[in-house]
Amino acid sequence: MLSKKIVEAFNRQINAETYSACLYLSMSAAFEAQNLPGFANWMRVQAQEELTHAMKFFDHVNSRAGRVELFPVEGPPGQWETPLAAFEAAYEHETKVTAMINGLVDLALEEKDHASNNFLQWFVAEQVEEEKSADAVAQQLRLIGKDKSALFLLDRELAQRVFTAPAAGA
Ligand code: FEO
Repeated sequence: MLSKKIVEAFNRQINAETYSACLYLSMSAAFEAQNLPGFANWMRVQAQEELTHAMKFFDHVNSRAGRVELFPVEGPPGQWETPLAAFEAAYEHETKVTAMINGLVDLALEEKDHASNNFLQWFVAEQVEEEKSADAVAQQLRLIGKDKSALFLLDRELAQRVFTAPAAGA
């Protein structure tokens, strides 16, 4: 059984992860409009991953006799000046999500909820990857600068990213 505080916090996190999915889908649409299908694909896969994050919280709340509550999802921005600006925004967003996850771990410890703490450790590790992968593309874009052919090659590379659903129970 989850405490009231944990249920409230996890429901807010379902909302935050859903917002992340919307944000990355909006970035994907912006890249489609700029004729950068590889960048659009990378963001689309990212959006799919975010929905699996939301669903993990959804399932955890349900499986511990909590009541899931859904809230309106804020609309994301729709435009970024450059591909680099989008990836910098993605990186910055992920650092905020990391802070949210750390806050949830603190709360789980305060509430002596060891099962939730254990559940959250997957997200602690995942956030390291989330920050790293957005920052890696941002760094490549800084190196590329205004070189259009290098941008084209990076677009082709980002087209290779595929969505893999996390293993059951992971
Ligand atoms: Fe669900 Fe990108 O953090």
